[in-house]
Amino acid sequence: MQNKQLWIAVALTGLLMVLLFVAGWMFGRPKHADVVAEVESAPVDARAVFVPGGGQIDAIRRGVPIDQEGHPPPMAHVENADLRRARAYPMQPPTIPHAIDGYQIDKNSNRCMLCHARANAATFQAPPVSVTHYMDRDDQFLATISPRRYFCNQCHVVQTDAPVLVANQFRDIDSVLSSPPAAKE
Ligand code: HEC
Ligand code: HEC
Repeated sequence: MQNKQLWIAVALTGLLMVLLFVAGWMFGRPKHADVVAEVESAPVDARAVFVPGGGQIDAIRRGVPIDQEGHPPPMAHVENADLRRARAYPMQPPTIPHAIDGYQIDKNSNRCMLCHARANAATFQAPPVSVTHYMDRDDQFLATISPRRYFCNQCHVVQTDAPVLVANQFRDIDSVLSSPPAAKE
């Protein structure tokens, strides 16, 4: 037992650490109730709200008074149903009908093009990116995806179940053309 002193030192240090931990745990923390009581909290609406009288839309605080902490609505779920949504107009970038979690796009690789490049589309049964994605700004066709179209998420978004933030009366050209002349205005 030549190391007796060493063992005693180790045991004492351990005991001290436990004591410090217990003391910190008991006295160091503010009580949960104290923290919560400081700010009132109100749920934030999932949709933008009209400010009465102001004629304006409050898309950020959504009616939560300035002296209250708003707790945000739950995040929308990404739909992964393989169902394409109609495009509102011909040049709308189609929404992505599948989840894209973990699909990396950086200097060295573009995960989307694994399936959406013309050469790979048949293997993965994915629609190839259209010819516009190979054109540069002078309308020249390039052999590979144009740098202008490299970052897919710049234009394409996933489909979610989020409610429409602000209501609108958009009608696509087909419904405008098919409505009776009197109602066209
Ligand atoms: C594993 C293969 C694969 C990868 C990776 C992939 N997709 Fe897809 N994508 C598909 C398939 C298959 C479809 C056809 C619809 C379906 O089955 O979901 C599709 C459909 C689409 C559509 C709909 C096209 C239309 O005409 O409506 C868009 C937009 C799209 N993908 C964009 C992307 C983007 C952006 C990425 C990268 C973040 C990506 N995809 C990564 C396989 C893939
Ligand atoms: C600058 C915006 C923009 C970027 C960036 C972009 N797209 Fe598109 N994409 C569009 C538009 C607009 C359309 C619809 C009109 C067209 O085909 O050009 C479209 C169409 C598509 C379609 C449907 C093609 C078809 O024939 O119906 C697919 C699939 C697609 N994009 C995938 C991608 C992928 C994958 C990337 C990334 C490599 C990407 N897009 C980058 C704007 C963009």
